[in-house]
Amino acid sequence: MTTPLERLLAATGLKRAARGAADWVDLAYSHIVEQLEAVAPRTHGRLLDVGCGVKPYEYIFRPYVSEYIGVEYAKTFDATANLTQAVKPDVFYDGKTLPFESRSFDTVISITVLEHTPDPQTVLNEIGRVVKKDGIVVVVAPFSFRLHEEPNDYFRYSPHGLRVMFDTAGLAVDEIWSQGDLWTVLGHKLNSYLAFRIARLDALAQMMGKLGHEDARTTSPRLWTFPLVLPAMGLVSGSARILDRIAPDGSETLSYQVIGRVK
Ligand SMILES: C[S@@+](CC[C@H](N)C(=O)[O-])C[C@H]1O[C@@H](n2cnc3c(N)ncnc32)[C@H](O)[C@@H]1O
Repeated sequence: MTTPLERLLAATGLKRAARGAADWVDLAYSHIVEQLEAVAPRTHGRLLDVGCGVKPYEYIFRPYVSEYIGVEYAKTFDATANLTQAVKPDVFYDGKTLPFESRSFDTVISITVLEHTPDPQTVLNEIGRVVKKDGIVVVVAPFSFRLHEEPNDYFRYSPHGLRVMFDTAGLAVDEIWSQGDLWTVLGHKLNSYLAFRIARLDALAQMMGKLGHEDARTTSPRLWTFPLVLPAMGLVSGSARILDRIAPDGSETLSYQVIGRVK
């Protein structure tokens, strides 16, 4: 079922522009994309995306790698994936043992997956097993993010915990990048409240290809809130970016991107 607003967006070609604006306002997505774009030139060869979902970041890595394979845990993927998305994983597995030879990938990435498994160390150990000795590992894990994909939402991560987990998996940590400071965290939480509780943008966001891995939403947007809420969200995102620069506080962040390799 599509709403008149969704049909209007699709018919007028405004969907693309609306998606671009939504991505800019979405501070979590913006930081993830920005940092994946920064690390992508360091990736190469055969790439494995562990917990790939609907592969929203494949386009960032494609220019640098020879192969892009997405693997998923069938149980959680089927339980929460918004199956209206056309893109599917290449391989499904049991969530424990990756069905690949040891040392068979030049690049292994895993983006916002470690919070969604009750046994994240096993997933990281497997990443440490399949990556080649001269390969690169890129993991993004949240530090402060609202509950999502429930009930499969188990953990949040500090940089110190991630270092211990990498070490246990036989991986050395080269760099850890935080994704936004205090103001980004505050801004993101305020904007999530405005978007989901006040304007009820969930279904519209999914129509634009966002919230791709969450269960299908059917909420009707509250159109009358748009003239106030949409500019407010833009203002919040812009202000958060500026305040992170002029009044940084790195004791808070949305998530961390870890770049590692075999020890
Ligand atoms: C928040 S989604 C992220 C999907 C994708 N990486 C992205 O950034 O859009 C978390 C994903 O982790 C997957 N997942 C959960 N447990 C897993 C496991 N043990 N191994 C691999 N993927 C798993 C879920 O099925 C889900 O697709």
